Amino acid sequence: MAFTNPTTTNKFKAAAIALALFASSFTACKSSMEEDLAPEQSADQTETVVSANDLDPTSEKGSYHLKGHTLKKAFSFPIGAAVVYERLKNEPYASTLKKEFSRLSSESNFKFHMLQPKEGVFTFAKADSIVAFAQQNNMQVHGHTLIWALDGVTPKWVLEHKGGAKEFEAIMKNHIYTVMKHFKGKVTSWDVVNEALTPGGGYVDNIWLRKMGEGYLLKAFQFASEADPSAKLFANDYSQEYGGKKLSKYLRIADEAKAKGIRFDGLGFQMHTVLRVDANMIQQSFVRTAAKGLLVHISEMDVALRYQKPKTFDLTDSLSRAQGKKYKEIVYAYINGVPKHLQWGITTWGVGDKDSYFNRGYAESNHDYPLLFSKDYKAKWAYRGFIEAGLGR
Ligand code: G3I
Repeated sequence: MAFTNPTTTNKFKAAAIALALFASSFTACKSSMEEDLAPEQSADQTETVVSANDLDPTSEKGSYHLKGHTLKKAFSFPIGAAVVYERLKNEPYASTLKKEFSRLSSESNFKFHMLQPKEGVFTFAKADSIVAFAQQNNMQVHGHTLIWALDGVTPKWVLEHKGGAKEFEAIMKNHIYTVMKHFKGKVTSWDVVNEALTPGGGYVDNIWLRKMGEGYLLKAFQFASEADPSAKLFANDYSQEYGGKKLSKYLRIADEAKAKGIRFDGLGFQMHTVLRVDANMIQQSFVRTAAKGLLVHISEMDVALRYQKPKTFDLTDSLSRAQGKKYKEIVYAYINGVPKHLQWGITTWGVGDKDSYFNRGYAESNHDYPLLFSKDYKAKWAYRGFIEAGLGR
């Protein structure tokens, strides 16, 4: 399926990139593999998203807003941002959220270890504040995530809990029921399980798998469906967009859920990606997913620019424009590859570059400029490329 607008890539190149992707493994946060896809930073990277004279004359200096347009008004589906509770009181963080976005997710405040840090002790205050902010500003809330298949973010009390499948099923059911009933009617969709599969389509080792077997994944969906029949339920992961074994396995799991009468509504494509990713391949992955009748949510989008960890790294205008073009290509891939009734929306993993997890808690060598707004919350070329896709430009 050809794009309208972005440059196209031949199938052989897409297949070659897809093949290269599965040659090794990487983590969600710092996928060295994906960085290998970033283009050589060529000085003549002059291909631009839009010509400078398209800039809105009223834009404040260095901002690429489009007069009279905002992200949430430019699209027929919600545009989200992942927030951190502690930042909601900051400006212009809060005003940018209110003006541009129509859905909130959270980097951590809805996670298992944040909501039930001790057995039976539920701490909802920070997540409730995010829900309140969303309700005050007519925004939806997406819950990330009920179960993350990663021992490193699973509370110690769970990891050390005695018992076998029966006991862990009870822990899982109680967590999912308690959390989803608490947010019922306020959180309209959930990542039920996050990052459950390896790039090769196997199951990631974690306590739930060890205790309950591979069936833990659909068990979580069954409990979620019982707890809140109105919420849409997603499996969320990274790099399915490359259309390889991981995506194929999720599509088989979706078939299994259907055969068992367990509600499995859609896939969250995290889309922590890089400049060189091939939007054609991404669109083909969306087409395969939508063909199953599954909702498609781009759930954690950012486009990293740093390549091969140069000692110093500045956001040049040409890199910024290239980022805008890539955002535009991927958003077009979503619009063209996913039928309207299956477009759950696009969520970026933060608001301004300084909020990005790349720039918090990671070594300087990972710092980056991956989001739509600059460190002082001015719209970047990335914003311009993103919104232009929404406006069909
Ligand atoms: O809030 C506490 C703070 O009170 C404390 O002083 C500080 C000390 O370390 O920790 C703070 O919590 C941190 C939290 O982010 C704040 O948002 C945690 O340590 C830190 O581990 C946590 O990292 C988050 C990470 O997931 C692990 O949960 C990142 O912000 C978040 O961006 C990242 O998001 C993941 C998605 O859930 C899944 N997909 C990949 C994505 C990026 O890794």
